[in-house]
Parts: sequence; C-alpha cells; structure tokens
Amino acid sequence: MTATVSVESSDEPLASGVRFPDGFVWGAATASYQIEGAVNEDGRGPSIWDTFCRTPGRVHAGHTGDVACDHYHRYVEDVAMMADLGLASYRYSIAWPRIQPDGTGPVNTRGLDFYDRLTDELIGKGIDPVVTLYHWDLPQSLEDRGGWASRETAEAFAEYAQIVHARLGDRVRTWTTLNEPWCSAYLGYGSGRHAPGVTDPASVFKAVHHLLLGHGLAARALRSAGAQSVSITLNPASVLPLDPENAADVEAARIVDGLNNRIFLDPLLRGQYPDDMREHMARFVDLSFIRDGDEAIINAPIDVLGVNYYTPSYVSAKPGTPSAPDAPGTDGVAWREPVGPITDIGWQIEPAALTRLLDRIHRDYPGTPMMITENGASYGDGPSEDGAIHDTNRIEYLDGHLRACLDAISHGVDLRGYFAWSLMDNFEWAEGYAKRFGLVHVDYTTQQRVPKDSARWYQEVIRRNGLTDQGRIGE
Ligand code: FCB
Repeated sequence: MTATVSVESSDEPLASGVRFPDGFVWGAATASYQIEGAVNEDGRGPSIWDTFCRTPGRVHAGHTGDVACDHYHRYVEDVAMMADLGLASYRYSIAWPRIQPDGTGPVNTRGLDFYDRLTDELIGKGIDPVVTLYHWDLPQSLEDRGGWASRETAEAFAEYAQIVHARLGDRVRTWTTLNEPWCSAYLGYGSGRHAPGVTDPASVFKAVHHLLLGHGLAARALRSAGAQSVSITLNPASVLPLDPENAADVEAARIVDGLNNRIFLDPLLRGQYPDDMREHMARFVDLSFIRDGDEAIINAPIDVLGVNYYTPSYVSAKPGTPSAPDAPGTDGVAWREPVGPITDIGWQIEPAALTRLLDRIHRDYPGTPMMITENGASYGDGPSEDGAIHDTNRIEYLDGHLRACLDAISHGVDLRGYFAWSLMDNFEWAEGYAKRFGLVHVDYTTQQRVPKDSARWYQEVIRRNGLTDQGRIGE
C-alpha cells in the first residue's frame, strides 16, 4: 500500500435492509492476460491476445498485455494489498498458455509453479482462492487448429482443467470453467472486436457450442477429481423491449434474449437448447456439430452460477437495420443508445436492471445459487494534487449495485457473494489501458499501486458486511 485515505468508520447499528446475509462472500476479480505481463517468461506460449495485440488497428493505441500490471512479479505485494482491503476471496484466472504452451500436450511445470505460489500466498493471508480456468487467453496454437469453432478445443479444455486441478485442487475449492462465453463466441468470432478477430456467423454458433461442451466436459472432470464447487460465469444481458406494449419490440427482445441468455442458460440448466435458438442457429450453419449427448454433458450440475453485470440493453424493432455483427440474425433490431448517466466506457448505469436480471434467472431457472463475479465501473480518475484518487462516481456505482443485490436477495434470490471488477486498473482488452476499472490505481510507468477512495469504501463495506444508510463512507 502506498497511500492511505482516511476513512471515518463507525459501529453504529445499520438498518437491517443494508446488511448482507451472514457468510456473504466479498471479493475482487482480475484476469491473467489483463494483469500478469511476463508473456515470454518461464515457458509461456503465445495466446490469441498476444497475436491480436500485434495486429495493427485491433487494440487501442497498439497497447499489449506484455507488461500489464506486472503482477507476475508483484503478486506478493498485490496479495498484501488484497489482505489490507479485507477481501475474503479473490477471483483470478489461469493462463492456459502458461500451463500447456501448445494448448495440448506437454505440461509446463514452471507455469503451474506460478499459480502454486500465488495460491499459497493467498491462503497464507486468509484469502479464499476462486479460480477461473479460461478468461479468454486461448493458446494460439489451438486457434491455429480451429479455436473454439472446433470440437478439439472443447476436449483439450477438459484435459487442461484436469492438469490445473491436479496441482491446485488440494487448496482451491471453487472452480469456474469459463468467463463470459458470450464474449468469446460473439466478439471473438462474430464482430471480431476481440481475439481472434474472426467475423463469421457460422463460427459464432460453433464456438458457443464448443465453449459450452468444454465447460461440461471440464465440469465432469473436475467433479470426479473431487472439486468442491464447480461453476461457470456468464454475462447474461438484462434485456428489455423498448416499448413493452409493442409486439415487434417484444419480438426483438426475444431474439436478443435468446442469443445472449437462453442459448447458454437453457442447455446449462435445463439440458437443451431452446427450439427457437436451434432454428436461429440453423439459418447460419448445419447443426450436425451438436452431437447426441452433448446437451446432457453441458447440463452437468453446477454449484453456483457466476453473473457478470455492468449495463442494461433496450431493444426495439426497426425495419431496415442491418444485423449487429455480434448478434447474427438480428436484422431489423436496434439497440437503444445509452441514456442517463453513463460510465467512461459509455455504458449506461442502471442498478435496477441488475435486480431485474437476478430476479429473472431466479424465476426461470429456480434453485440456481448465484454470485456476482464481476461488477464495476470505468472512470478515468487519476491522482489529485493530494495524491489520492477521489472516485466518488465509482463509489456511487458500486453502492447502487450493491443495493440492487440486496433488493434481489429480499425477493428470495439465492445470491451468495459479490466480486468487484476489478482489484486494480488493468489491460481492458480492445480498449487497452485507456479504461480504468480498478479499486486500486495503477501507474503504468512506475507500477505504483494506490488504493482509490473506492477501495477504502469497499474495505469498510466488507468490514460491516453492509452499507451505511447514507451510501457513503468517509465523506
Ligand atoms: C468483462 C470481462 C472483464 C473486464 C470487464 C470490464 O466483460 O470479463 O475481463 O474486461 O468486462
């Protein structure tokens, strides 16, 4: 910790409405490629993001994850920072190219050693490790063999999951297979906004299926190896028709909800793709890649569903609108431009949409325990003259969304935890370092970490297991 912000703390009783249930898990999240750097160290192979960053015009200002937050070398300091914030839990991802540089075949033990040290460091500080096996850094060699459009990648993923579990399974209780397969499939193979930068609707749906199959195969393997808790993290959209009274808008919302939500949730939690989505996919690709028995594999029981939420979607029917590249088959569907307050990345702020989303999953997929595995806001805040980062806008965002979680809990949603995105500023994919989501500020020149006011506020929220009535601490 390099700076402290004075925080008024008090033990006055809180109104019951602003307390979280006992045992609620408080954490923060990161991802390997976004923070680690050290891309050429200890035998790591190239990932699709290394390649993508080197392709001109793909990533803001030609930024790369080569150094990022240099977490690979600074993990001890970073874990100390987490402990200082009082985090009970830390969600991090494993870089597959560190473990199997070619995606399949020989295991690079030096890669496993790094996560072994990190995991021990966390446990030594009383922080529960929550591992995500895939947060988008696919080994380039697997992409060269077809990537997620190929069934081989799903099979390779299950093997990789077993390798990591064999090394960390004695200490890691919670295993998340994938982070946001929607992004991997639709941004990676549809709009090409993310690595590998492919733009092919048929590949989108093959990728959706092979990601889900990879999850199912890995979930089964993890379970039989003794994993205590198995999960997947989605970014389900909180999608609404712009005019709920207008049948064409409702129809537009059905399609978008299908592509973003039901295409994942239904096979995962009900064991089959929805009929309308099968028909939708079949417009672009022969569905023979969905083999008999695949949906049963995808339907492997999970212990908790990870939900990442940032912003709502409102859609309407607008004849003549071309299909969105990241939503094949949405000709005639328009997304409303954000209205009202937005964050720096242009995302509309609407906490009530999070409550709506959690309520909906609870209603349509009953009995699904959930965790918020990411939620947070990008603001370009830097240090003020006093050296501190007064990010009241981020505090307001987090406070509003935590209240939205409490509302969902009061409606009966089984919500078990909350992970802020992100522990620290980091490489924000196609946006490079231009967007800052951290509770902790990172100076990329010096690698100095400075907790923002939001970090101190969050520390107090964790300590109280609740929010103050004012929604502010330390003002
Ligand atoms: C999510 C990603 C995470 C981060 C946030 C802002 O989609 O999972 O890595 O980029 O968005």
